Amino acid sequence: MAYSQTNSSPPGGAPRPTTSLAWETLLDLSPARPGGGGTATGATPRASSDRPGRDPLHRRLADALRDAVRQGRVPPGATLPPSRELATTLGVSRWAVTEAYGELVAEGVLESRTGAGTWVAAGLVEPRAAATHPGGGAGATTSRGSAAGAGADRRPPWAPPPRRRFDLAAGVPDLRHVPRTAWVRAVREALADAPDVALGAADPSGLPELRGLLAGHLDRARLVRSGANGILVTHGAADGLARLARALRGAGHVGVAVEDPGWVRLHGVLRGAGLEPVPVPVDEDGLDVDRLASLRTGGAPVRAALLTPAHQFPTGVALSPARRERVVAWARDVDGLVVEDDYDAEFRYDRRAVAALQGLDPDRVALLGSLSKTVSPALGLGWLVAPAAWLDRLAPVASAPSTVDQLALARLLASGAYERHLRAARARYRRRRTALLDALAVHLPGLPVTGLAAGMHVLLELPPGSRADDVARAATALDVTVAPVSRYRAAGATSSGREAPHGPEDQVGPREPEALVVGYGNLADARVDEAVARLAAAVHQG
Ligand SMILES: Cc1ncc(COP(=O)(O)O)c(C=O)c1O
Repeated sequence: MAYSQTNSSPPGGAPRPTTSLAWETLLDLSPARPGGGGTATGATPRASSDRPGRDPLHRRLADALRDAVRQGRVPPGATLPPSRELATTLGVSRWAVTEAYGELVAEGVLESRTGAGTWVAAGLVEPRAAATHPGGGAGATTSRGSAAGAGADRRPPWAPPPRRRFDLAAGVPDLRHVPRTAWVRAVREALADAPDVALGAADPSGLPELRGLLAGHLDRARLVRSGANGILVTHGAADGLARLARALRGAGHVGVAVEDPGWVRLHGVLRGAGLEPVPVPVDEDGLDVDRLASLRTGGAPVRAALLTPAHQFPTGVALSPARRERVVAWARDVDGLVVEDDYDAEFRYDRRAVAALQGLDPDRVALLGSLSKTVSPALGLGWLVAPAAWLDRLAPVASAPSTVDQLALARLLASGAYERHLRAARARYRRRRTALLDALAVHLPGLPVTGLAAGMHVLLELPPGSRADDVARAATALDVTVAPVSRYRAAGATSSGREAPHGPEDQVGPREPEALVVGYGNLADARVDEAVARLAAAVHQG
C-alpha cells in the first residue's frame, strides 16, 4: 500500500495523506466478497436479511470502502479520489460512487465538505481489532471478551468514548449539524470589524457586550436573573466550576455535595481545587436535598452543592418544585451556595420548561452554562452566572476564551442566529427521540424508559438478571457506543482518573438499577432503528 503526502487539505485541517492507492485492488466489488458482503459487523442482527446474494453496486462499493476503513487499509484523514476519478478507475457509474460516498458520510465513516473533497473520518479504526483480525475488521470481533469488547471500559469516566458507527453515547450533540457556515461567517466578520483596541489584552471576565447579550438570552430562555456584570465568559461548564471551586476553597469550604450518579468529570474538577465531592443519592424527584443538612466532610459541614436541577444527569429526572425550594432554603440556612449545572436545559420537549433554579435566589445559586451541548464542545465556550458576593473572588483567577470567538458568539446572539439554531436543534432532537422510542418499543418491548422529557439521552432499565456492564460490552462488539449508569457513579471515581468499579459486587454506595444511558444526540436519523436492533441483540446476549 502506498500513500503519498501532499499539502492538499480542507480548510482549517492539517494536510491529509492523499491516496495513490490501487483502488481497483483494494475495493472488491464482487457480489459475494469473502468476509464481506454485509454491513461492517458480521454481527448485525439483520445482516443476512438485509444483504441477500446480490446487492446493488453502490451498496457493494459502500461496504467495500467501509471495510477498508475499518481494517485500517485506508487511514483516518486520507482523502478519497473525486467521484468521477474513482468511477473511471473502477469502471462504475459516477452515480454509484456518489451514492456510496453519501451513505458513508451519513454513517460518519467519511466526511466531506464542498470544495474540500471527501476523506476518512478520524477515530474509526479499532487498532486491536484490525491487528487481531486482519481480514475481518471490527466486524470480526463479535464474541464477549473480543478485542473491541474487552478493552472498552479502561478509560477514565470522563474520556470521550471511541467513535463507533452507532453512537448512543450520552451528551454528544449532533455533530453533523454544527452551524459551521454561520460560525465561520461570524468569526470572519468579527475579526474584520473589530477595532484595533479590541485585539489587545481582554477583560478576563469576558467581553462586556457578550456578557450583556448572554444576560438577555438567559433571562428570556431560562429566567435567569443577572446583569452583564454577574456573568463571566468561560471555556465551558468545567472551567466555570474550576473557577468557582477555587473561590469556594479560598473561602474555607472543604466539601461539595454532588449527585450520585452524576457527571463525574466535575467531581475531578472539585478535587483538583482541593474540595471533596460528597455523593448524595438521586431519586425520581432529583437530588435527595433532605440529606444535605447533615452532610459533613473533613470535620466540617458541607455548605455547597452541585446539581443538575432541570434534567438530572444521567437519570433525566427534574428536581421537584418542593425540592427546588428546599435546596435554596438550605443554602440560605448554612450561608452556602448551590451550583446549578444547566447543561442541556434548552432541549425540553413535552413538559413545560423548568426555569433555572438561579432565578429563585440569585444570591445563593451560581449557574454553569456551555455551548458544549447546544453547539459543540469543540468551541470551548461557556458562562458562569455568579452571585454578587462571589464575583470579586472569581475575576482575578479568570482567563477568558479567545476574543475573536467571543465576538463571534456575540454576533450569533445579537442576530438571532443562535436562537434559530436552538429551535432547529430542538425540533431535530424531538423527532429523533420519537424515532428512538418507537424503535425501543419494537425491539425491546416492555423495558422501562425514563428521563425522556428533555435533553439528548434516556435511561433504559434492563430486564431482571441483566448486567448493564455486560450489555454495554456486548454492544461495543456490535459497533454500538452505549454506557451503563454505573459509569457515572460518584463513589469509586477519583481525580486521578481511576474508574468506577464494575459490577454490583464492587459497589460502594447504594445499589442502583441495572440501566443504560442511551444517547441520541449524535445518531444519524437513518441509523436509529438499526442501532436499537443491535442494542436489543446486545441485551439478549448480555
Ligand atoms: C452534566 C454535564 N454538564 C456539563 C457539560 C458540559 O461541560 P463543558 O462545558 O465543560 O464541556 C457536560 C458535557 O458533557 C455534561 O455532561
